[in-house]
Amino acid sequence: MGFFLRLASCLLLAIFMALAASPATSDAAKIIVGGPQRWHFGFNYSEWACKNGPFYINDTLVFMYDPPSNTTFPHSVYMMKDLKSYRTCNLKKAKLVGGVADGGRGGLEFVLKKRKKPYFFACGERAGFHCSQGMMKFAVLPVPRVCLG
Ligand SMILES: *[C@@H]1O[C@H](CO)[C@@H](O)[C@H](O)[C@H]1NC(C)=O
Ligand SMILES: *[C@@H]1O[C@H](CO)[C@@H](O)[C@H](O)[C@H]1NC(C)=O
Ligand SMILES: *[C@@H]1O[C@H](CO)[C@@H](O)[C@H](O)[C@H]1NC(C)=O
Repeated sequence: MGFFLRLASCLLLAIFMALAASPATSDAAKIIVGGPQRWHFGFNYSEWACKNGPFYINDTLVFMYDPPSNTTFPHSVYMMKDLKSYRTCNLKKAKLVGGVADGGRGGLEFVLKKRKKPYFFACGERAGFHCSQGMMKFAVLPVPRVCLG
């Protein structure tokens, strides 16, 4: 009897915790860029974004990369100004989103806001080499979540 009572209270607790953990504010998701691949040289992030999208307004992208060390190449995250600089990996007018030390621990978080044009993300290391040769770039146009009751 005691066993079943304990089992029942365990189940109740689990249900309660699941309810408490469900987001009360929104359905926004946290997405690790590249999934298990994280943010590194030589993985096709455009393809990853196409396969894992669409991404929604208020979703958070998490860029995870190791801080500079003797055994890893440093990475960073920039936002390219427009499609042309994205295509050519030209960083001249790009905006720094995360420096080489910002991808450690929980990663670098970036919330996708409502926008008319896509975000163009790229790694800025080696003057665009990681972007052009390492495929470390992708575009995201966050879309609204439509839930019609
Ligand atoms: C990356 O993937 C995209 C989409 O599948 C493809 O169009 C592109 O050619 C790939 N890039 C490279 C360098 O292979
Ligand atoms: C995004 O979050 C902001 C602030 O929390 C909220 O005002 C807005 O309605 C949200 N937008 C969507 C599309 O969920
Ligand atoms: C990294 O390399 C530098 C210079 O060769 C050396 O002084 C340092 O101890 C190395 N650090 C680690 C963690 O191996």
